[in-house]
Amino acid sequence: MTSTNPEPASRFLRACAGLPVDATPVWFMRQAGRYMPEYRRIREKFSLLEIVERPEIAAEVTLQPVQALGVDAAILFADILLPIIPMGLKLEFAKGEGPLIHNPIHGIGDVNRLRRLDSRTELGHVMETIHLLRGELPAEVPLIGFAGAPFTLACYMIEGSGSRDYRHAKSLMLSQPKTWQALMEKISEALVDYLLAQIDAGAQAVQLFDSWVGALSPADYVTYVQPYSSLVLQTVAKTGVPVIHFGTGTTSLLEHMQAAGGTVIGLDWRVPLDDARRRLGWNQPVQGNLDPVDLFTPLPVLQQRVEDVLHRAGGQPGHIFNLGHGILQHTPVENVRAIVELVHEKSAELRESV
Ligand code: CP3
Repeated sequence: MTSTNPEPASRFLRACAGLPVDATPVWFMRQAGRYMPEYRRIREKFSLLEIVERPEIAAEVTLQPVQALGVDAAILFADILLPIIPMGLKLEFAKGEGPLIHNPIHGIGDVNRLRRLDSRTELGHVMETIHLLRGELPAEVPLIGFAGAPFTLACYMIEGSGSRDYRHAKSLMLSQPKTWQALMEKISEALVDYLLAQIDAGAQAVQLFDSWVGALSPADYVTYVQPYSSLVLQTVAKTGVPVIHFGTGTTSLLEHMQAAGGTVIGLDWRVPLDDARRRLGWNQPVQGNLDPVDLFTPLPVLQQRVEDVLHRAGGQPGHIFNLGHGILQHTPVENVRAIVELVHEKSAELRESV
């Protein structure tokens, strides 16, 4: 594995390691998707799951934003919910409604029925996509693999869909702690298997998406979630491959997320980047954190907002520019492209003036 590798050459991997860069690397969560006409053309022919099951097409979709935007990293085209299918849950992406699970978890019987994941065989198509991509991506554009974090996956498995308040998931967590523990252990074991398989297949970094963790208080995070996220993050970190630990609504959780693990901490837009860097320490690499809605503003406003994030990063190494959450569906592509240019140009200028 890569722990003995020499200093990485790409901007993205250098920033993950806290090393100086010529310009701040930038990529976007959900950079492949419906805001892009190239993606919509493929979606006319295939469903989301059909794309993911066809490695050539999944690789093509992964490459679309790399070619159209000039980003500094590619993110594997897949979904955080893929592992729950071989674990035994019936997942559907319903039109206009997002993910739907037809047999969600209600109690210990359902948890006991979950199957142990063997990613290399049961998600072999994902590994094949990674393999194809490593052959196609230029050396300066590393490939990021990913998975959902234990809490966010548990929420989907219990709620059966997205939710405003996660009341089924959180009430199971509080009222059936043994069931919660058994579920989180099974999910964590599956995630370790899945992420290590992605790294073996060629992923050069991985991101753990704890998209819904902001629903928790710090005390509940520490008691019910941190041990499992920590197990996944610490086990994967042993490979030497950088791990990005991301969540949203995490302003009150950042130090606890940092303690759980992650080479890089992903920030949403609700926390000023300089505050977060002060709290986590300037030698903690961070990723973020433009508000995805800023991409709907006219260019002069957008430019000011991008520059604000760069200024708050303080011209210090260890910053990867990204949004605070995924690109929204109707985002104008030209604004996404403009950000990439702006980040490269302005961050290089800032470095010269430091
Ligand atoms: O470009 C990339 O970032 C890589 C691909 C990617 C997808 N999903 C493809 C996808 C990634 C990294 C994800 C992660 C994911 N999936 C998350 C975590 C990130 C986040 O946004 O918080 C979550 C919560 C999911 C679960 C999920 N998948 C939802 C809630 C939805 C429906 C949302 C919607 O926009 O309809 C999906 C579907 C999905 N996954 C789409 C894409 C491009 C939209 C689907 C389509 O083409 O129909």
